[in-house]
Amino acid sequence: MVDRRGGVPEYLDVPEPEVNDGEVLLTVAAVAVENVDRAIVAGTHYTAAGFQEVLPAVPCFDGIGRLPDGTVVGFGGLRPPRGALAERVAVPAAHTVPIPDGVEPPVAAALSSAISAMCMQTAGGLSAGETVLVQGATGVAGRLAVQVARLLGAKRVVATGRDQAALEEVVALGADAVIDTTVDDERLVRAFREHAGDGYDVVVDYLWGRPAEMLTRALVPDSFAMPKSTRLVQIGESAGPDLRLAADALRTSGLEVYGAARNAVAMPAAHQQVVEWVRSGALTIPVTTMPLSRIAQAWTRTDLRGRRLVIVKG
Ligand SMILES: NC(=O)c1ccc[n+]([C@@H]2O[C@H](COP(=O)([O-])OP(=O)(O)OC[C@H]3O[C@@H](n4cnc5c(N)ncnc54)[C@H](OP(=O)(O)O)[C@@H]3O)[C@@H](O)[C@H]2O)c1
Repeated sequence: MVDRRGGVPEYLDVPEPEVNDGEVLLTVAAVAVENVDRAIVAGTHYTAAGFQEVLPAVPCFDGIGRLPDGTVVGFGGLRPPRGALAERVAVPAAHTVPIPDGVEPPVAAALSSAISAMCMQTAGGLSAGETVLVQGATGVAGRLAVQVARLLGAKRVVATGRDQAALEEVVALGADAVIDTTVDDERLVRAFREHAGDGYDVVVDYLWGRPAEMLTRALVPDSFAMPKSTRLVQIGESAGPDLRLAADALRTSGLEVYGAARNAVAMPAAHQQVVEWVRSGALTIPVTTMPLSRIAQAWTRTDLRGRRLVIVKG
């Protein structure tokens, strides 16, 4: 639990949760720690006030648990200040979903990053044979997005990052070309152009900030030719919450900007598709597990290199 904004969660005894009408008591099996959880605890996420209105509070808002009969379910719908990083949780029965056989709880806990990468299809309208640019491809979600793009039949996948060794790992995962975002603005704009082939059809943007701004500049044509459309799907802001969008970068570039939540009605089918890939082994979701009793050490780890931290019982 955390006792202040920006604190590191500590492993402490708290009373058993009360189970209200319509709720079920679950034994927690696995909880993924994502950037959004860290941002809520840090108080920088737009939902932080709701989750931390009362302190101390238990972090994380969803996870995988076992019903008293042993059935494994995904859960959400927690009542703050109680969060998912606990041994037991009480949640509304309506906020539980069965976890399919063949998906272990730690992987099930981390599925959402792969599912959210499906926004390239649900929000971005990706069709097989198109070109995808993944901004922030060295992170957990970005590496999965590169693989998802391949599985969805992308003709060409271009990936950005800021660490050469990590970018080489992303090539091994299926990227055709990589771009180092740490170069100066002019070189970065040039690199986006050089690697565009016949144009980026869909951009999955985990970064925003400077890399996204340089991309918008790179998309401006140098003639009056009709631009090809580029559907940018905004899903993360690891490089910053803002960018400067020049008028001509919108007027002349064919740029279309969508949020990842666009066309959310298509997400259940996307979810099912990801589960099938995971079960068949077509998609691997790398996780590093640590026991709940070591949450303070787990929370501060920075060495996971593309693996999702998942907290398990113990
Ligand atoms: N909306 C959703 O459903 C959803 C789902 C998943 C993720 N996200 C969001 O997407 C973003 C990435 O998530 P993640 O789980 O993949 O995080 P992650 O594993 O921490 O990866 C972050 C990525 O951003 C890069 N990065 C970090 N700071 C940067 C900077 N200042 N300039 C340029 N690049 C920078 C990292 O590069 P290095 O590898 O060099 O550190 C890495 O590629 C987060 O904002 C997260 O909240 C949203």
